[in-house]
Amino acid sequence: TSARLVIDPRFPVGNVDRRLFGSFVEHLGRCVYDGIYEPGHPASDENGFRQDVLELVRELGVSMVRYPGGNFVSGYKWEEAIGPKADRPRRLDMAWHSVETNEVGLDEFARWAKLAEVETMYAVNLGTRGIEDALAVLEYANVESGTTLSQQRIDNGTEKPHDIRMWCLGNEMDGPWQLGFSTAEEYGSKAAQVAKAMLQLDSTLQLVVCGSSSAHMPTFGAWEQTVLRKTYADVTHISCHAYYEETDGDTGSFLASAVDMDFFIDSIVATADAIGAELHNAKRIEISFDEWNVWYQSRYQNEDRITAAQDWPYAPRLLEDIYSVLDAVVFGNLMISLLKHADRVTSASLAQLVNVIAPIMTEPGGAAWRQTTFFPFATTARLAKGRSLQTIVTSDRYNTQRFGDVDFLDSAATWDAATGEGAIFLVNRHQTETMTLSVDMTGFGPVQISEALTLSDDDIRAVNDLANQTRVSLKPNESVSMAEGTLLIELPPVSWSAISFE
Ligand code: AHR
Repeated sequence: TSARLVIDPRFPVGNVDRRLFGSFVEHLGRCVYDGIYEPGHPASDENGFRQDVLELVRELGVSMVRYPGGNFVSGYKWEEAIGPKADRPRRLDMAWHSVETNEVGLDEFARWAKLAEVETMYAVNLGTRGIEDALAVLEYANVESGTTLSQQRIDNGTEKPHDIRMWCLGNEMDGPWQLGFSTAEEYGSKAAQVAKAMLQLDSTLQLVVCGSSSAHMPTFGAWEQTVLRKTYADVTHISCHAYYEETDGDTGSFLASAVDMDFFIDSIVATADAIGAELHNAKRIEISFDEWNVWYQSRYQNEDRITAAQDWPYAPRLLEDIYSVLDAVVFGNLMISLLKHADRVTSASLAQLVNVIAPIMTEPGGAAWRQTTFFPFATTARLAKGRSLQTIVTSDRYNTQRFGDVDFLDSAATWDAATGEGAIFLVNRHQTETMTLSVDMTGFGPVQISEALTLSDDDIRAVNDLANQTRVSLKPNESVSMAEGTLLIELPPVSWSAISFE
C-alpha cells in the first residue's frame, strides 16, 4: 500500500502544551505501594521511593501527574495521610476493595513529583466531601504561611507551598461505581460552588470539571451540556476519559481506535462551544484528557474481583495489563490524535504510570522495566515540540466493523520555529502490507532527517514481561531518505514511527 502526506509550517493547529505528556498515579493496586514506593527495596531512597522507577519516569518524559485518583479519590480523606506516619490510620478503600495504609499522602507525593521532575495535578474528593474539604486541602497545599493548615504543612516538613496549579473537581461523578455519583444537575451545581470557593482562595487556579466517564455512558453529551452550563465561567477545562481494547478478535477496528478518539474530542469541543454560544461567552473551554490508554477492561471485569467483606488486601495486583506491539501501535496512534487536537486538548494524563495499566512495571524486591507502550510515549514526549501542524493525507482505506471506512495511514506533525526542529508521527494500520509513504515537506525549505524510529514486530503479540523485559524496543528505520523536499519511508505493517528533522 502507499500514501502521501503534505506538511507545511504555515498551517499550524495550535501550540503543543507540555501538559499533553502527563500521566496518572492513583492509590490503586500496585501503582503507589510496591510501585513508586517500596521501602526496603535495594533501589529505594530513605523515603522509600524506588530510584529505578524514578529514572524510568524521567526517561518517559512525563510532564505532569494526576493524583491521588481516580475512583479512589471519591472516598479519600487527605488529612489522614499527613504528619507522622506512625499516627496515620489504616482505612478501607471502597473503590478498589483494598486497605489504604496512608503511608504515602500529599506531602510524600509532592516530594516524589519533584524528584520525578513532574508537575502535580490534584483531584479533590467530591464523592463523599465538598467545599470545606476542597478549601482545606488547597490551603494546606498552596498557602505560604500564617494559618493553622499552612503551618501544619510546614511542621510536616514542607516549608514552601506545593503550589499546585491544576485541580480536578472530583472524578467520574456520572458513574454508578463512584462513591457519591450524582446526576449532571447535582454535580454541576456542586462543582460550580466548589470552583467558586477555590477561586476565592486563588483566582489563578486552573480547574477541571468532570465530563462523562466515557462516550458510552447513557448521559454522554447531555452531561457535558448541563455541567458546563453551570460551571462555564469558573472552570478552564472539562475532562475526557477513554480506554480502548481489542474485542472479539477485531484487530482492524482496534487499530482504528484513534478515529473514535478524534470523534470524541470533536464532539466535546462542539458541545463546549455550543454552551459558550448559548451563554454569550467567548471564552473557550479546553480539554483535559485526563484518562486515556489501551485497557483490557473486559479482562478486569472477568477477573476474580475482591468483594468479600473481610478481604481488604494491601497493594493487590489489579489492572496489570501486559501490552503487546499491537497495543503500543494503537497507543502511539492515540497520542497522534491528542497532537492533532493540540488547539483544544491542552492537558492529558496517560492512565496510569506504574504497574496499573502502565508503561512501567515493577516486581517487589526486583526489577523495573519498560512495557511496549513506553516507547511511543517517551519518543512523542521527547520530539513533539512547538506547534502541532495540519497533515494533509492521501491514503488507501479499509473497512472496519466499528468505524466504517478509515485510512491505513494516520499522522501528526510538529514544528518548533524557535529551534528549527520538527517531527512527524506515523501509523500504518495495514495488517499485512508495508506502506510506501512520501511526505511533501517543501514548505520547510532545506531540512535534514535527524532520526527515524519504528516500532513493529513480525509477531504483533510480542510483549516485554517479567521473563523477557527487553523483547520489544524501537528500531532505527533505515528506509528513510530525503530528496528535494520530499521524504520517503517504508512503514512496516502494524507499525508506529517517529521521524525528527531540522
Ligand atoms: O484508571 C483506572 C480507573 O478508570 C480510574 O480510577 C477511574 O477514574 C476510571 O474509571
